[in-house]
Amino acid sequence: MIRFNTNNQPKYKRSMIFASNIIRKIFRGDRLKRITKTLLEISKQISLEEKKRIVILDFGCGSMEISKRLQNNFHVYKIVGTDTFEANFKTNKLEYISSKKFKNYNKKFDLVIIVDVLHHIGVDNAYNVLKSLSKLSKNILVKDHFEHGFFSRHLLRFVDFYANYAYDVTIPKKYFDYDSWHKTIIKSNLKQIKLLKNFQQHDGLFNLILNKKHHFISLLKNEKF
Ligand SMILES: C[S@@+](CC[C@H](N)C(=O)[O-])C[C@H]1O[C@@H](n2cnc3c(N)ncnc32)[C@H](O)[C@@H]1O
Repeated sequence: MIRFNTNNQPKYKRSMIFASNIIRKIFRGDRLKRITKTLLEISKQISLEEKKRIVILDFGCGSMEISKRLQNNFHVYKIVGTDTFEANFKTNKLEYISSKKFKNYNKKFDLVIIVDVLHHIGVDNAYNVLKSLSKLSKNILVKDHFEHGFFSRHLLRFVDFYANYAYDVTIPKKYFDYDSWHKTIIKSNLKQIKLLKNFQQHDGLFNLILNKKHHFISLLKNEKF
């Protein structure tokens, strides 16, 4: 996954990143176009419900590519991104805080977004992360993967390897299925407000390789917040 600065990566990793970006461009592999559109619709709805411009936490943000696309909308007041690496990045509306420093950050949010992060942390541990995040925000939006058997799992692992190889992100041994996702929500004490199964993420070749049944978006609420 993209980091703010890839200059300190070894040369072979930078070449991998360059090649993978070209392949994505040629084969229409923009993974964020449709996700951003859906995130915008849902975040706008939350802003209307809360009757204010909202503050978003982008958990596992990478280089905040999604936040950068969301920021230019009036209903978005500010986006804080956090991830495991150290970096300095701050603009008018965006701020990056490393996980280490985020532990001492005590402000609340109107919405947390977690895009393609939970499976890297581990599907069996995901409920702990959701529980902690639900103390920071009433609304949590998750984009993640569903596996559908052996072949599908290994296809997801292959694509994850391709997308994350250069960034030292752990490649999961398994992904959510309908059952484990349902159990995760229950163990997190959250309520699922919306589930978009079969979410088409890519166009072109990338959509043929990893089709829409592998992607979902879920909006969760902490009703006790
Ligand atoms: C596939 S990338 C997704 C990045 C970004 N959300 C996006 O969709 O462009 C997964 C990210 O999760 C981050 N991550 C993994 N474990 C994490 C943790 N425990 N806390 C915060 N971020 C984590 C990784 O460093 C990586 O940047």
